[in-house]
Amino acid sequence: MPPPRARPSKRPVWIIVLIAFFCAILIGAYVYPSNKPYKSCYYFFSSDKCNGWPPPTPARVYTDEEIASRVVIKDILSSSAVQSKNPKIAFMFLTPGSLPLEKLWEKFFQGHEDRYTLYVHASREKTVHTSSLFIGRDIRSEKVVWGTISMVDAEKRLLANALQDPDNQHFVLLSDSCVPLHNFDYVYQFLLGTNISFIDCFEDPGPHGNGRYSEHMLPEVEKKDWRKGAQWFTVKRQHAVLILTDTLYYNKFKHHCKPGTEGKNCYADEHYLPTLFNMVDPKGIANWSVTHVDWSEGKWHPKAYRAVDVTFELLKNISSIDQSIHVTSNAHKQVQQRPCLWNGMKRPCYLFARKFYPESLDNLMNLFSNFTVF
Ligand SMILES: *[C@@H]1O[C@H](CO)[C@@H](O)[C@H](O)[C@H]1NC(C)=O
Ligand SMILES: *[C@@H]1O[C@H](CO)[C@@H](O)[C@H](O)[C@H]1NC(C)=O
Ligand SMILES: *[C@@H]1O[C@H](CO)[C@@H](O)[C@H](O)[C@H]1NC(C)=O
Ligand SMILES: *[C@@H]1O[C@H](CO)[C@@H](O)[C@H](O)[C@H]1NC(C)=O
Repeated sequence: MPPPRARPSKRPVWIIVLIAFFCAILIGAYVYPSNKPYKSCYYFFSSDKCNGWPPPTPARVYTDEEIASRVVIKDILSSSAVQSKNPKIAFMFLTPGSLPLEKLWEKFFQGHEDRYTLYVHASREKTVHTSSLFIGRDIRSEKVVWGTISMVDAEKRLLANALQDPDNQHFVLLSDSCVPLHNFDYVYQFLLGTNISFIDCFEDPGPHGNGRYSEHMLPEVEKKDWRKGAQWFTVKRQHAVLILTDTLYYNKFKHHCKPGTEGKNCYADEHYLPTLFNMVDPKGIANWSVTHVDWSEGKWHPKAYRAVDVTFELLKNISSIDQSIHVTSNAHKQVQQRPCLWNGMKRPCYLFARKFYPESLDNLMNLFSNFTVF
């Protein structure tokens, strides 16, 4: 005879387990509601297929200024570019005074008069031009204090002046120590043959990157959005307009990213545009700058080339680099290396290079036609 009480004694356990299981599902569906509860919330079984998990963080209530800013930026980004019949590139020189390498630039521009415009912002001294191409191209300038927002203001002043010419479709920011690495046609095709802006942008977890972030920038700028990048950008027209439109994020940087606040040195020109574009149009920027600079010596300033350094080999070396390199400022000194992709194709990264001493002018002039054959 089987023991008569054996089966009934198992039933309540079985029922309790079943009831507990359904209760758990019901509680789950209640605590983490989803639009499609039956399809999506069996997260006991399939964790990654459940749309209701993790629960969405509640959206912030935006201020009037933020709503306005978001809608304007969205509208600028979705507007299609006005096609000019005669597209030009605006070359904008941000310099303390005269351009020591002006003769080299003259060589670069000569013969392409209908395809470029020049703008010079001399922030310290009145310029003396050695090339007729530059005469009359100075814009009204203001003093620039290194590392402060006045640097960004000067960039915006150049953009505003250059945007006045509707033919200008791409805008290149250059310094007095920059040189071209290719001929004009190459640069023109490179910049106008793609849809993106060449804004340097990377995440640096170290003290010279995320360490400069200030929580005073909340709620509009979160730490996860914070980026760093070299100042020397090129931007398409749409992005140039966007930069001039933005006051919301600009003001955050103006007040909370400057040298010597909260015991840290934040430089707006190294963080404002990378962070802004990382937030509003990350796919619209290349994440590297087309202006090469050599930080490999690990000093406070990048390598600057003297006359003796300027050889055919040096210029060939720089113009054949096809990987962009970013090094983090933490103890790991982590190297982030990525191929430079232009419309999805691997290409050499750089169109320009810095920093070249004025004394290197003669060597550069002699070499120019040799190294810019492409
Ligand atoms: C530029 O963007 C448009 C869409 O906005 C796209 O159709 C076009 O192919 C892009 N051109 C290049 C050169 O990538
Ligand atoms: C630049 O980086 C962002 C992510 O930070 C990425 O979404 C974007 O596709 C990158 N741009 C290009 C052209 O690869
Ligand atoms: C050029 O690159 C080669 C190979 O990387 C290197 O050995 C050489 O020192 C470089 N020359 C100059 C002048 O930078
Ligand atoms: C430029 O190239 C030509 C031909 O390859 C060569 O004869 C000349 O010496 C080069 N000039 C310089 C300054 O390297």
